[in-house]
Amino acid sequence: MSKIKIEGGHLLSGNITISGAKNSAVALIPAAILCDEQVTIANVPNISDVQALEEILTHLNAKVTRQDNIVKIDSHNVINKKIPENLSKKLRASYYFMGALLGKYKKIEMYFPGGCSIGKRPINLHLKGFKALGAKILEKDNYFLIEADELKGNKIYLDIPSVGATINIMLAAVKAQGKTVIKNAAKEPEIVNIATFLNNMGAKIKGAGTGTITIEGVDYLHSCFIEVIPDRIEAGTYLILASLLGKNLKISKIIPSHIESLTSKLIEAGVQLQINDDNIVVKEVKEYKAINIKTQEYPGFPTDLQQLIIPFLTQCEGISTVIETIYENRFQNIKETNKMGANIEVKDNKKAIINGKTKLYGKEVSATDLRGGASMIICGLLAEGITTIDEIHYILRGYDDIVTKLQNIGAKIELI
Ligand code: EPU
Repeated sequence: MSKIKIEGGHLLSGNITISGAKNSAVALIPAAILCDEQVTIANVPNISDVQALEEILTHLNAKVTRQDNIVKIDSHNVINKKIPENLSKKLRASYYFMGALLGKYKKIEMYFPGGCSIGKRPINLHLKGFKALGAKILEKDNYFLIEADELKGNKIYLDIPSVGATINIMLAAVKAQGKTVIKNAAKEPEIVNIATFLNNMGAKIKGAGTGTITIEGVDYLHSCFIEVIPDRIEAGTYLILASLLGKNLKISKIIPSHIESLTSKLIEAGVQLQINDDNIVVKEVKEYKAINIKTQEYPGFPTDLQQLIIPFLTQCEGISTVIETIYENRFQNIKETNKMGANIEVKDNKKAIINGKTKLYGKEVSATDLRGGASMIICGLLAEGITTIDEIHYILRGYDDIVTKLQNIGAKIELI
């Protein structure tokens, strides 16, 4: 398996263009199955999670064609067969086939999804939603058979505003009879993107982006077009990097309001950002002061950026804290960061205390998961000397062309 090798300490300048959002694309692709005709999805990132979903579509006999970042999916000849475990466990988002195939064929057979091991990640709320719509669920070890004679709209209250459960219930409900109301729904921008896609097909979804989503069932979903929104986590990753090493570095093709929870914290630490309509520029690196972060559901500070802000906090003067509230196991990157010279203490896997500012030194480290891996890239670019990162397959799951994008702004980084 290849590794990433980085020579740290170089300033970065120029422009980084952000790709389509992983967490939207991975739901839009399974959602395409619901359509009775062909759909076109633009701005699809080239990442291994998307390739894994395309494999599942092909297994189901859908026709998938890709030209650059445009993916066309034709579901005319889909055969609703069991999705084997080797395909479902390649990624978390394979679970969106549960909602999509249940919604269309009233039956789905598959295995528990995969994804980064950042916590327990149960799917009880997805299943609660399917049951409320009238489905029966047989669950044995990792295997699920979910089926219904007919799906009927219902009111579903989510104990936690889960992104996955909100999307999966929308997918199952678009063709159900009558009205479904999801209460305490997740409000992430990706949910609005999926609802827009389904509405473009002819679904009747209202309230996406708020805590109450209403879905009026329809019989037929027609051909349509959707563009994947910019990846706010990729944008945040490069913005954090720009705050540490940028010299007139521009992060473009983004929606700045989607990352206000991050930009407001960077500004509080002393970063000077020039925020424009669809890009943000960091002109020069300054001295920064310690800040406190607490992860929350959107529009709060995203858990997905928590691991990425850790390298930034090592460069802030004073004691910063990070409290993780979404996942039970999302500080795995700290051990690797400390190896490079950081001084970070983790309490009960819930709180990290970062004593800054500390110099970082190049070392041999591992990507522990997707965002933890990208966080090690930031550490490597910042550190004195050479860093090598292994287990980089985690990073390639969610970052489109990361090595080339970084080389283009002057980073000394390569795949070895
Ligand atoms: N949860 C339950 N029961 C459920 C569903 C969720 O207890 O049925 C819990 C989870 O265990 C977690 C919390 O609720 O503690 C939030 O989970 P959520 O369902 O919102 O997350 P997800 O849908 O599994 C998506 C992203 C994650 C991102 C989270 C939160 C995808 C494929 N994944 O996961 O992305 O962290 O929302 O924003 O969309 C990443 O990109 O690195 C990543 C992990």
